[in-house]
Amino acid sequence: MSFAASPSTTIMKAYRGKLPLSVISVIVCAFAFLALLYTERLSFLSSNPILKSKSCARKAAVVKASDHQPAEENLEIPEIDDRFEFDPEECDITRGKWVFNRSINPLYNDSSCPYLDRQYSCVKNGRLDFDYRHWEWQPDDCNLPRFDPERALRKLRGKRLLFAGDSLQRNQWESFVCMVEWTIPPEKKSMKMGKVRSVFKAKEYNATIEFYWAPFLVESNSDIDVLDPKKRILKVDSVAKHSKHWEGVDILAFNTYVWWMSGLRLKTLWGSFANGEEGYWELDTPVAYQIGLKTWANWIDSTINPNKTRVFFTTISPIHTRSEDWGRNNGLKCFNETKPVMTKNLWGSGSDKTMMGVVTDVVKKMKVAVTVVNITQLSEYRVDAHSSIYTETGGRLLNDEEKADPGRHADCIHWCLPGVPDTWNQIFLTLL
Ligand SMILES: *[C@@H]1O[C@H](CO)[C@@H](O)[C@H](O)[C@H]1NC(C)=O
Ligand SMILES: *[C@@H]1O[C@H](CO)[C@@H](O)[C@H](O)[C@H]1NC(C)=O
Ligand SMILES: *[C@@H]1O[C@H](CO)[C@@H](O)[C@H](O)[C@H]1NC(C)=O
Ligand SMILES: *[C@@H]1O[C@H](CO)[C@@H](O)[C@H](O)[C@H]1NC(C)=O
Ligand SMILES: *[C@@H]1O[C@H](CO)[C@@H](O)[C@H](O)[C@H]1NC(C)=O
Ligand SMILES: *[C@@H]1O[C@H](CO)[C@@H](O)[C@H](O)[C@H]1NC(C)=O
Repeated sequence: MSFAASPSTTIMKAYRGKLPLSVISVIVCAFAFLALLYTERLSFLSSNPILKSKSCARKAAVVKASDHQPAEENLEIPEIDDRFEFDPEECDITRGKWVFNRSINPLYNDSSCPYLDRQYSCVKNGRLDFDYRHWEWQPDDCNLPRFDPERALRKLRGKRLLFAGDSLQRNQWESFVCMVEWTIPPEKKSMKMGKVRSVFKAKEYNATIEFYWAPFLVESNSDIDVLDPKKRILKVDSVAKHSKHWEGVDILAFNTYVWWMSGLRLKTLWGSFANGEEGYWELDTPVAYQIGLKTWANWIDSTINPNKTRVFFTTISPIHTRSEDWGRNNGLKCFNETKPVMTKNLWGSGSDKTMMGVVTDVVKKMKVAVTVVNITQLSEYRVDAHSSIYTETGGRLLNDEEKADPGRHADCIHWCLPGVPDTWNQIFLTLL
């Protein structure tokens, strides 16, 4: 089953006919999807002690004197600290592999970071295999510098950074906050969590790291009180209600994808008429997405001064609900996976290439340069790193009965923290 499915023929073509979808499976998926999205809640009353400062490991880059150096020469290879030399323009971070390294440890864990949602705190929720926390993304052509919290905070001095989008963007925001917050003593930081807007402040730096909830970026009747996918109506031509909260921000990081992928055609509305929501029209998913993203792009182009504001867009976070995608025919979605898939260029049905193409097209034509944080390929391999059954539903942890039924209840959309979104932020920081 796949959330990425749309019955439209255009999309089916992109799947090369890999997805036989009965109407029933679409409906089941839509409900499972709804159940997952209902777990959008905040639980942050943890009062665990703040992590003590520890030194941040530096990664030394190996500089090749020549690409074709014969091995027998056995020359000394000079080592340099590449943290400030890394040039994202020179290195394609989408190509690479995950390397296991037991001696690397995340900068935080789900007991040490007080701001983690229960939706992402897998170990606290009972996950017993920890290997998923020791993989590092190794691009083919360069070394990705480790995330340096002090460097991140220096870059944000006097600035507002705002992540806007859906729960995957909140996944990334919480990862970012957790990676920097432990370096700041309690009296020099604050957090205000809200249903729509949350703000973390690093007082000494006069910096904020904020999150704004807008799952479609454009307006919909399902932004705050989440509705059944069949009842959702998107105002594809309007972002105003959300965008007024984005004005004046120095660094904007957006995403939107998974909410469009309910498997149904999307009810959309534009303009403003007396018949209100009754006047909707159903569009194929990529068409609605294109109009919605174009609306967002027009707001950026007409409002943002690129000399003052940086704009980022995070690409598709893969959904791992079809274990056949990575060659496990008797699997239950991502449940019980403990290792990344090593198949080069693995690309599953949970990352829709047509939708990716829409992002490419829209961004390419924008006046304001948008930096794409392309996390899709590297995350595709990480079938082992989702919240799976170590998550919550309706404000409580899954009970034993639900845990015993991963086919229905495993969350293969969101990611455990610490985990894969830490790598997204590692990349994001190099682009900042
Ligand atoms: C593993 O990580 C440690 C600590 O950062 C580092 O010293 C070591 O070189 C890494 N090993 C490999 C094989 O990358
Ligand atoms: C989390 O981090 C704290 C502080 O570094 C450490 O004491 C604790 O053992 C860690 N817990 C887990 C489950 O790794
Ligand atoms: C703090 O940052 C804000 C922008 O986020 C700026 O308007 C304000 O002047 C800064 N204050 C100080 C004391 O630097
Ligand atoms: C941005 O800066 C450049 C160079 O200083 C200037 O030519 C341009 O007009 C500025 N753009 C805006 C929108 O202020
Ligand atoms: C999960 O994996 C373990 C170890 O590989 C295996 O023994 C167990 O049967 C698996 N459980 C299910 C439900 O597939
Ligand atoms: C992201 O990277 C993939 C390859 O990994 C590529 O196919 C896709 O076009 C890229 N997306 C964007 C928006 O640049």
